[in-house]
Amino acid sequence: MRIGTPLSKNATRVMLLGSGELGKEVIISLQRLGVEVIAVDRYEHAPGHQLAHRAHVIDMTDAEALRTLVQAEQPDIIVPEIEAIATSMLLEIEAQGIAKVIPNARAVNLTMNREGIRRLAAEKLGLPTSRYEFADSLEELKSAAQRIGFPLLVKPVMSSSGKGQSFVKDVSGLDAAWDHAASGGRVDQGRVIVEGFIDFDYEITQLTVRAMGCCGEIETHFCEPVGHVQVKGDYVESWQPMKMSESALTRSREIARAVTDDLGGTGVFGVELFVKGDEVWFSEVSPRPHDTGLVTLATQRQSEFELHARALLGLPVDTAIRDAGASAVIYGGMEAQGIAFDGVEQALAVPGSDLRLFGKPESFARRRMGVALAVADSTEEARVRAKQAAGLVRPVLPE
Ligand SMILES: Nc1ncnc2c1ncn2[C@@H]1O[C@H](COP(=O)(O)OP(=O)(O)OP(=O)(O)O)[C@@H](O)[C@H]1O
Ligand SMILES: [Mg+2]
Repeated sequence: MRIGTPLSKNATRVMLLGSGELGKEVIISLQRLGVEVIAVDRYEHAPGHQLAHRAHVIDMTDAEALRTLVQAEQPDIIVPEIEAIATSMLLEIEAQGIAKVIPNARAVNLTMNREGIRRLAAEKLGLPTSRYEFADSLEELKSAAQRIGFPLLVKPVMSSSGKGQSFVKDVSGLDAAWDHAASGGRVDQGRVIVEGFIDFDYEITQLTVRAMGCCGEIETHFCEPVGHVQVKGDYVESWQPMKMSESALTRSREIARAVTDDLGGTGVFGVELFVKGDEVWFSEVSPRPHDTGLVTLATQRQSEFELHARALLGLPVDTAIRDAGASAVIYGGMEAQGIAFDGVEQALAVPGSDLRLFGKPESFARRRMGVALAVADSTEEARVRAKQAAGLVRPVLPE
């Protein structure tokens, strides 16, 4: 692997499709390795835009706009950071040898749609998942719900961060769930997955890295499991390591390996799993760093973002954990442009704490604007510290 000089004709150019808080950290890691970075997002001054060599605003679901930009920038490597991308164009770009896609175009295409990845995991690989069916109308939803049984979840096949998702207790909730899914879905509206509810003890993200080993073979590395709490399908708190039974951990890694072996390529994958006792179910997988993995900025020698940067460049990785730690999300709490944050000094005075403020130009009540991190002797103590630090940061509207 040879890395050129940024902004010269031998530069190693990487294009991020999506430049939010996760992309921003990947960009920092790439910049440290002397890579030329092009940040793309759908709005101006996205977090990653603020530190890339060049920034572009396009509609990434527009295949032609994507092709035009790739032709103009000629990146060596394209790194999707979000799901809402014209993935058909990535398949073309990869097939034509124009740029490498991380981890590969097929994996990005399959995982952006719940149907693709669910059928792969359950039907091709035979992995345990919740019961599921797909429905294209309210009538189909109602009959699917009868077969699946209550309680259940209804999710648009294309959505993330819990958007358009409903927990349905009984048949009276199905009409509202259908309407909610139609409003929260992306691109292809009107198809939902109906999932049986799994009454798990806890859920984890098994961060899994496929990286080039010393002998020219791709090797699989596992991070320590990340535990997390989700509210309405959006992560609010995570910690590492999550204490698990030996057999649940082994099973989790078998599942993570099966899925990532099939998806292929190099990079970080966030494999989401539900655990009850020693039983483990596959939920879904991100072919990129995972939001719950923000905790690794505090805990690991190489965060999931550094791991991703190294793996996508064909460099070796080290997934070792250094400290127990936790993360707690800081929300905007208001709808406004150009907000400010008070209490940063108090937050950083919490022992073992650290902070990331993402620099997003616009705040919404439930928009993730930052994250508090903390390390401690135990994950329990780290969780207390991270939540305390997050609570001390106060979003305000300057006059
Ligand atoms: N079948 C299920 N049984 C029990 N809980 C579930 C089920 N499906 C989802 N959940 C809960 O809802 C959360 C979000 O679900 P899921 O990951 O499918 O949504 P998402 O929109 O892709 O979210 P994200 O993009 O944040 O990962 C899960 O982490 C879990 O807490
Ligand atoms: Mg999820």
